[in-house]
Amino acid sequence: MLRAMEINGTAAIVSGGASGLGAATVRMLGAAGAKVVVADLNDQLGKSLADEVGGIFARADVSDADSVRAAVDIAASVGSPLRFVINCAGIGWAQRTVGRDGEPHDRAAFGRVIDVNLIGTFNLMSIGAAAIAKTEVANADGARGVVVNTASIAGLEGQTGQLAYSASKGGIIGMTVPAARDLAAIGVRVNTICPGIIDTPIYGNAPGSEDFKARLIAPVVFPKRMGTAAEFAHLVRALIENDYMNAEVIRFDGGIRFQPK
Ligand SMILES: NC(=O)c1ccc[n+]([C@@H]2O[C@H](COP(=O)([O-])OP(=O)(O)OC[C@H]3O[C@@H](n4cnc5c(N)ncnc54)[C@H](O)[C@@H]3O)[C@@H](O)[C@H]2O)c1
Repeated sequence: MLRAMEINGTAAIVSGGASGLGAATVRMLGAAGAKVVVADLNDQLGKSLADEVGGIFARADVSDADSVRAAVDIAASVGSPLRFVINCAGIGWAQRTVGRDGEPHDRAAFGRVIDVNLIGTFNLMSIGAAAIAKTEVANADGARGVVVNTASIAGLEGQTGQLAYSASKGGIIGMTVPAARDLAAIGVRVNTICPGIIDTPIYGNAPGSEDFKARLIAPVVFPKRMGTAAEFAHLVRALIENDYMNAEVIRFDGGIRFQPK
């Protein structure tokens, strides 16, 4: 018999849920019957998406533990058990270890990227899992919920200028196995997705961004295009529903392997 974690009738929280990969995940979870808390800094997009899916917007800065706690409290009190914690909030940054001007990498910029991408994921994973632990078990395995983190293939093979970003994403990859081991005691699985080049607003809409995207897809193996946010959400759903997926870091990248530049 196939065991599958049920999404319908649960609560979920998605950081970065107002845009891109997070927004597609919010839509997937909402359509599957979950009450979704959209945790994001972007009030306007966050509120309108929460309205669209019958969810709740919670303004949250993932780098701030109190703010994450407040958002998780909302998710834990909607009347359905909180089962799914999805980390999608993230920021990019490009700066070389030593710049062409001879200046070393800016300390504050490095710290900001670590705060949002790595500490932010740590905050929601740990605070969210503590809330999941308070729910009844969901099935005969003793499962209570699932955490899905979003790293990047830059966490595995960072390109030039990705020192801070790759350090933050590599940290998320590194947390995956110990977190899964820690959270087994409360019936929570943990998986991390490493997207390649996925078409989202993260690449901007400035003149030239289409040319930039065209250059990015050149090394994609197949299919020869950017991935879509809906394809990412489809993978999140598979990781939630397949009870045997745990402690795994999954490339989601059309076979691309990053070159140095
Ligand atoms: N799009 C890609 O090709 C790609 C590739 C690899 C990894 N990723 C990762 O996927 C995640 C989602 O990226 P996206 O492409 O959907 O980007 P996006 O810019 O469309 O969405 C990111 C969201 O995170 C929110 N956010 C930023 N800082 C926050 C904070 N401190 N607290 C709460 N919310 C915050 C933003 O407001 C935004 O809504 C990021 O972690 C990114 O690093 C994306």
